[in-house]
Amino acid sequence: MHKNVNIYVFSGTGNTFIVANKISETFNKNSYNSTVLKMESVEPKQIDLNSTIGIGFTTACWNTFPFVRAWIDSLPDGNGAETFLFTSMGDTSCGMIAHIAKILEKKNYKIIGAKGFIMPNNFLLVLKDDKNIARIEKNLLKVEEYAKGIINGNGYIRKPNILSSIAFSVTSFVTTKLWKTKLAQKIMKFKIDKTKCNGCGSCAMLCPAENIEIKEVPQFKNKCVFCLRCVSYCPQQALSNKILLKTYRAVNLKDMLWKK
Ligand SMILES: Cc1cc2nc3c(=O)[nH]c(=O)nc-3n(C[C@H](O)[C@H](O)[C@H](O)COP(=O)(O)O)c2cc1C
Repeated sequence: MHKNVNIYVFSGTGNTFIVANKISETFNKNSYNSTVLKMESVEPKQIDLNSTIGIGFTTACWNTFPFVRAWIDSLPDGNGAETFLFTSMGDTSCGMIAHIAKILEKKNYKIIGAKGFIMPNNFLLVLKDDKNIARIEKNLLKVEEYAKGIINGNGYIRKPNILSSIAFSVTSFVTTKLWKTKLAQKIMKFKIDKTKCNGCGSCAMLCPAENIEIKEVPQFKNKCVFCLRCVSYCPQQALSNKILLKTYRAVNLKDMLWKK
């Protein structure tokens, strides 16, 4: 493993950032020089192939968000670069990470770890804060173990099976094709409470899909990926959606807005 490690991460509501930071902290404690970078701030073609590469992202619909898939698909030939993967999920990703690992192997990346971690669910089944905190604490121990395994050259690598292969084919169609349809965009559209919104623009700054434009109040285009950043981190709690009963945020707004 190279002494320099760059971890490229997408996180909607902060869970995957927490996992990435734990991995990075574990590497740094063991004399590595590890940095966490926001996936959406780095062009895939610009990733450093001479360092060890980490790629982490949210599980969405047993897959991941369309632009994460697009980012991964646009990565250049890896030329054998050592790469580890991780995802954070509320329950199960149905083996998705094994299939993303396969995509990267075909691009000539050497996979040295691929694992999913259960974190608080940020969608549909949002638990109470104390339960979420306990879940994070428990699972960060597993994250640390995973990072140590990578350091020791025996990183866990999830293997695909027939069921996960079928699921991944179906969910790839859903996330890359159906997600963009007018109907899906209509379902995902957020409603703005104009009496609460003060036009601060946090939602537009947070949106990874450039789906929000501020004209006094936010104007939504039809490129939503439903990562929940805008609704979860709106300082005025001015956004809502009928299919979202409760919001969840793992870190604070300032931590979500960091740029690297
Ligand atoms: C649109 C959407 C779809 C999701 N689909 C899944 C899923 O298929 N399986 C799962 O275990 N969790 C699912 N989740 C929950 C998240 O994966 C989980 O809470 C994750 O830790 C959030 O990470 P983040 O805060 O870094 O975005 C989904 C969340 C969203 C917003």
